[in-house]
Amino acid sequence: MERTTLISPAEIEQQLSHCQAVAELTAQWPDRPLAFVDTYGCQQNEADSERIRGFLAKMGFGFTASEEEARIIVINTCAIREHAEQRVFGNVGALVHVKRRHPDTLICLCGCMAQQPHVAKKIRESYRHVDLVFGPHALWRFPEMVHTLLTQRGRAFSVDDEAGSIAEGIPVVRQDRIKAWVSIMYGCNNFCSYCIVPYTRGRERSREPEVILGEIAELAAQGYKDITLLGQNVNSYGKDLEGGWDFPRLLERAAAIPGEFLLRFMTSHPKDATEKLFDVMARCEKVAPVIHLPFQSGNTRVLTAMNRRYSREQYLDKVDALRRRIPNVVLTSDVIVGFPGETTEEFEDTLSLIEQVRFDALFTFIYSPRKGTPAAELPDPQPRGEKSANFDRLVEVQNRISLEKHRAYIGSVQRCLIDGAGEDPRSSLNARTAGGRLVHLDGDPALIGRFADVRITGCSTWALFGELV
Ligand code: SAH
Ligand code: SF4
Ligand code: F3S
Repeated sequence: MERTTLISPAEIEQQLSHCQAVAELTAQWPDRPLAFVDTYGCQQNEADSERIRGFLAKMGFGFTASEEEARIIVINTCAIREHAEQRVFGNVGALVHVKRRHPDTLICLCGCMAQQPHVAKKIRESYRHVDLVFGPHALWRFPEMVHTLLTQRGRAFSVDDEAGSIAEGIPVVRQDRIKAWVSIMYGCNNFCSYCIVPYTRGRERSREPEVILGEIAELAAQGYKDITLLGQNVNSYGKDLEGGWDFPRLLERAAAIPGEFLLRFMTSHPKDATEKLFDVMARCEKVAPVIHLPFQSGNTRVLTAMNRRYSREQYLDKVDALRRRIPNVVLTSDVIVGFPGETTEEFEDTLSLIEQVRFDALFTFIYSPRKGTPAAELPDPQPRGEKSANFDRLVEVQNRISLEKHRAYIGSVQRCLIDGAGEDPRSSLNARTAGGRLVHLDGDPALIGRFADVRITGCSTWALFGELV
């Protein structure tokens, strides 16, 4: 595998000087410079937005939740399904009015949509109020692009299909003081036939283990209690590094860092989730007993057409190997209904897999063709109505299972992280079990950010209800 390109510290330094130059400009503005950052998509995008906010803060911006107040608007987009893209086009379209009222406001669109040539073209031609478009590969050059736009007129597009690199030393403004994301790698090499991610995020590249472990240690020292290691397929971590690194080894090292915190990770591709990983999960107290293991389909022919590179039986074997080590592991998954050519019998296999595995929670999607992916070229004769009907059946089965699984918690005492204020007046706090299940309970807001024992007293399909013990 090719070695990853690391952006040099001098280049990052240069970006930070652009931040400084912009800060000198914004300091002259009559009003306080504010930025609005809107994020769609996965945790990887959330993590990218934290770096965008980090740069913006260095440029002298504060943050606002109102587009009207903002002098810079950043929309960090997702391309995973048609629906995600349509929402972005709708919202970006509406910004034309903001631009009319405040012509000096910079409007920026970034993220996975921007990395697709046909989307960049559409923005260039039909969304002329958008000033700056850049893909994930160019994120590290954001300060330079903003500086240029503020000092020269015109629009800028930075959407070339670069190889993708790793940039360390970018400032971050984290959204939460209890939970944090740590990207351990970027990109994906799997090319599942339906998926756009390998085209928008480039090839897999791993961050150096010392840098990752240093970041986790710093977060633990700052009092973060819940740290999620991120990658499109964390199980291929380290393949491009020297020194024999792999994900289980990284996870075990991270779990040895002192402090009171839990480690999670996502996502795990089943073909690469090894017994070595399950052993580390079982052995390390700091690793939360939960895994997100997307199966996508319960039928081997469909799995092959999806280029997933495991069979139904191999998936079930992995789940067995995992549950032998961690009997109470919380297991969540993703599934796609209506992949091109999926028959009703094949869909029944997906249902039977759900009944057999009994996931704690499931993220269910109707197949959405993505331009440029192999699956988008396949014949897809099944009518939309049939796909929706299958989808509804699947959701109904999973809801029943989720409820049954939740009922089994009633009467037990769970060590939970109190992670925020509740919305319901009768349950003033929200918490999460180690396995990540949501718990509503009543208590003193001063407990937010602490671990506490909670007795589970009730449940719904979506959440548990409890009381402090
Ligand atoms: N890297 C992760 C997740 C990627 S996207 C993984 O491999 O699991 C999250 C989920 O979106 C996928 O697991 C899949 O279920 C769904 N998804 C991806 N592309 C899709 C498409 N074209 N149509 C419908 N769902 C899709
Ligand atoms: Fe997409 Fe497959 Fe990569 Fe996940 S593993 S990001 S589904 S190509
Ligand atoms: Fe969406 Fe890109 Fe994540 S397509 S799901 S934001 S990697």
